[in-house]
Amino acid sequence: MPDLRFEPCRGCLACVYKGSCAIKNDNLGALLEKILEADGLIIAAPTYLLGPAGIVKLVTDRALSLSPHLEELAGRTRVAATISVAGNRKWNPLGVELLNLFPLAYGYRVIDYLEAYAPGPGEVLLEQTNVARARELGRRVARALSGEIEARPPEEQQCGNCYGRAFRLSGQDRVTCVVCNTTGRLVPDESGLRFVPDPPGPHGHFWTAEHRRHHLNDWIVPSRDRYLARREQIKKQLTRYERKWKR
Ligand SMILES: Cc1cc2nc3c(=O)[nH]c(=O)nc-3n(C[C@H](O)[C@H](O)[C@H](O)COP(=O)(O)O)c2cc1C
Repeated sequence: MPDLRFEPCRGCLACVYKGSCAIKNDNLGALLEKILEADGLIIAAPTYLLGPAGIVKLVTDRALSLSPHLEELAGRTRVAATISVAGNRKWNPLGVELLNLFPLAYGYRVIDYLEAYAPGPGEVLLEQTNVARARELGRRVARALSGEIEARPPEEQQCGNCYGRAFRLSGQDRVTCVVCNTTGRLVPDESGLRFVPDPPGPHGHFWTAEHRRHHLNDWIVPSRDRYLARREQIKKQLTRYERKWKR
């Protein structure tokens, strides 16, 4: 059973407009405090149905709570690594990708990741190499923070920003990384196809401090007035579809 409890995001954007999340009766506030303090983060999750367990998405969805802190975090070096545990490789296509989204959304740079496989809960710990690899991952986070080592180099078919291997085809040889929106081309070479990213745009990929600032100030905030002007109309429309569930 989880020690911490998280409610789903309500989509109210109080985090953006009022400076803190409207949900006060769960553990996100306490977790956010730790995240704001921590320069290094390791997140691990089991894969359920092709990607990280739902609780990871619940907390990732709440990452707009970081909005009031973007400026204080922008100048800090914060690095993360992830551990995806699944039954088998073929059934884990989004484990690393969606797990890496968590630290990216909370303002960390992902410098390494680990995939470990065992079908039963906890079974992964019986393999000592998994434990040793996890320990090494922790050391690598600390060493990356002190500038002693570089991030793990991406493989040829991976996105260089987020280690993603899930790309959206966008015509001819062009593809877009679905996690960080890095665009580029698939280029044939002797090993098959290689992902060659485009030079970064003015704001970089989705999860740079600059891009977040741009998204917040130039997209989320301006959408507010339009929403408020249409709120009554939206409410009226919603009542046509609302159904109250009896508990
Ligand atoms: C509901 C459920 C769904 C699962 N779905 C997948 C899956 O899609 N792919 C996979 O490789 N393993 C899947 N597994 C296996 C778990 O990833 C595996 O048991 C893993 O070792 C659990 O991690 P833990 O040791 O941290 O509990 C699933 C397990 C459960 C209980």
